[in-house]
Order: sequence, then structure tokens, then C-alpha cells
Amino acid sequence: MKSLDWLDQAKWAASGGNAQPWTAAYEETENSVAIELSIDAAYRAHPSAMDLSGTASTLALGCLATNLHMIAAGNGFVLTDLRVSERDSLWTSSVRLLFGRGKATGRVYGPDDIRVRHTNRYPFRTTPIDAAVRSNLEAIARSYARVRVAEFAEAKMALVPGLFALERIRWQDKRLLQSLFEELHFRHDATEASGLIEADQLGISPVEQWFLRLLRDVRPLRLLFRCGLDRIIARQSLTQGIRNCDRVYFLEAADASFRSCFELGRCFQEQWLEVNKAALAFQPIGLPLIAFEHWRDEGGSRLRPEQRRAIESVTRDFGTKFRLDFKKPMIGFRVGVPTRAPKRSSRKPVAAQIKPGLSAD
Ligand SMILES: Cc1cc2nc3c(=O)[nH]c(=O)nc-3n(C[C@H](O)[C@H](O)[C@H](O)COP(=O)(O)O)c2cc1C
Repeated sequence: MKSLDWLDQAKWAASGGNAQPWTAAYEETENSVAIELSIDAAYRAHPSAMDLSGTASTLALGCLATNLHMIAAGNGFVLTDLRVSERDSLWTSSVRLLFGRGKATGRVYGPDDIRVRHTNRYPFRTTPIDAAVRSNLEAIARSYARVRVAEFAEAKMALVPGLFALERIRWQDKRLLQSLFEELHFRHDATEASGLIEADQLGISPVEQWFLRLLRDVRPLRLLFRCGLDRIIARQSLTQGIRNCDRVYFLEAADASFRSCFELGRCFQEQWLEVNKAALAFQPIGLPLIAFEHWRDEGGSRLRPEQRRAIESVTRDFGTKFRLDFKKPMIGFRVGVPTRAPKRSSRKPVAAQIKPGLSAD
């Protein structure tokens, strides 16, 4: 079965917290393949606190779609149609990808490129990345009409105060913190790692991993996040991350529709393939989604007043200083020459079932 084989190769796509929130339906003939992607009901019942509206999941569907598109190209198929079924919410919307036989034109990444794409959370060198990679990243962004890109090189440290405020909220807010801990898998955990982020991939030492596990398992210790630990972690994960890279990019979607979020995910994944293909390091910066979910949540009544004020101030600042709008779906990433290669992450098989009539008009 082509569809199942393609989905199996495409599953190495990125997803927030490695949640792999996708499910697929398919129908195929000798010369055509139809694959429908939507958000899995089990994930929808218990989403990450970073993903209250399904925006991060819709981005992940876009990431998976880019991989499918590339794998299809390697098998002599091209994307002939892409149909979005936009429903009341992102959770119940879906997209159908139709492939027919043909020779792909334009940028193509093979199965090896898809397998080597990964998140690198270690420090990167500040050496400038190749100009050819930068212009390829620009060209990729230009091919997605609903996505706008902003690049920060010399000015990257000016981003830190605003992002630092969001990173602190990630560690202070009970729901965000709980979600973060639920996404992690430590070496001696009894659970399966295939839908989680392994602590070995966090770019931190074994002692730091041990301490993080302690914070997860001994809840009263989490009070430390209200007494300054949030600042220490934010300095290490955010400030050091931005200092130790060449440049930072942000991709902003035109609006919050399924189509725009999906396109944002496709563009994000294609740029990521380009960076890793050039043997450069890439780490997403999902923090804008914290601000976005606050605005989607009609003023973010779930956050404490000082956290709400912090998001309002960061939103104003990023709007005036950098022309970036946190009321829109947005994802950032940092790139640079790697200093270390992280361990590979794991994956579950993609749940998929036959759906007769899927390729019909
Ligand atoms: C929407 C989205 C947001 C993400 N946010 C972050 C982030 O803030 N920090 C980070 O280190 N990785 C982030 N990631 C990367 C995922 O954690 C990663 O893709 C996943 O764990 C699978 O690992 P891999 O990319 O190495 O295959 C994000 C990915 C997506 C799709």
C-alpha cells in the first residue's frame, strides 16, 4: 500500500511536545493516492496547554503534509489538489491531499532528509550560516502566500526580554507546567517514549535531567518556580539559546483559520528540512503560541493578572518594535552551526484507515 508506506516515512514530522496529534484516512489506485489528515480524537480530548485551540496541532498536520509531499515526489507522484474542509473549530477541520503520477518540479527533499530532520536544543555556534541557505529559506517562505517571515541576526538579542517573559510564564503557570512535564520521558520511566520528548534530547546534563524529574515527581518542589527557579531555567533555555545561534526567524500566519495554520506548518517544516539538509542546527521557539492562546481565550482569564499584563505588554512591544503580531498564529526558530548532535526522537505508527470515495470530487 503506497499510502501506508508514505505515512510511515512521513511520521518523522515535527509536532509540539512530539504529540503526533494526527490521524489519517486514505484511498488509492495504481495512479492516484488520496490522504485525508485531521486531528486525532484521543489527543483532542487531552491537548497540551500550549494547544488549547488546536493551532499547534494544525501546524503539525502541515508538517506531516510537507513530508508526504516530498515522499510522494520521490515515488513519481505530485500533489494535484489540496482541499481543506474548514469546520467550526480547528479540532474538527481536515485536509485532503490528492496525488497523481507526475514528475516533481521545484525543491524536493528525499527520505534521508526527512529522517535526519530533528530538534537540536544544545548551544549552536554564532558563525554565520551559508548565504545560500538563507536565500533558500526566503524562497520557501515566498512560496506560501499566507505566511510572512521575519529574520533577526544582529538584532536577535533585542528579542530576549519579551520572549523571556513568555518563557517564565511557561514555567510558572500550573497548566503549562503540567503539560510540559507530561510531554517528557525520563530514562527510568515505566511509560513508552514514542509519543513523548526524551529528556536526553533536552540539551541538558544528566544532573539537570535528574533535578527536572524530581520537580515532576515531587509536586511541592514546584513552588520553586514561583521563587526564582523560573528565571534560572528561562535564562538557560531561552537567553542562552538565542545568544548561542546565528539567527532567529519568525513565521507568522495571515489569520487563525485552519488553512493558514496548516500552511504555516507546511512552510515551517520545509524550512526545517532545508536547514538540516545543510547540516545546520534548528530549534523551534513555540513561545508565541502562549501569547496567541491567551488572546484566543478572550483575554486569557486562566492566567494570573500579572501574567496577563506581561503578555499584553510583550504583544505591544513586538508589534511596534518588530512588526510581529502575537494575536496571529506564529512560530519561531533559531539556527546555527551545531556544536553537538542530539539523540534521535521516537515515533508511534500513524493511525490510518481506508475511506472509500475519498478521491472522488
Ligand atoms: C508547533 C510546534 C512547536 C514546537 N515548540 C518547540 C519549542 O518551543 N521548543 C523546542 O525545543 N521544540 C519545539 N518543538 C519541536 C518538537 O518538540 C519536536 O518536533 C518533537 O519533540 C519531535 O522531535 P524531533 O523534531 O527531533 O523529531 C515544536 C514543534 C512544533 C511542531
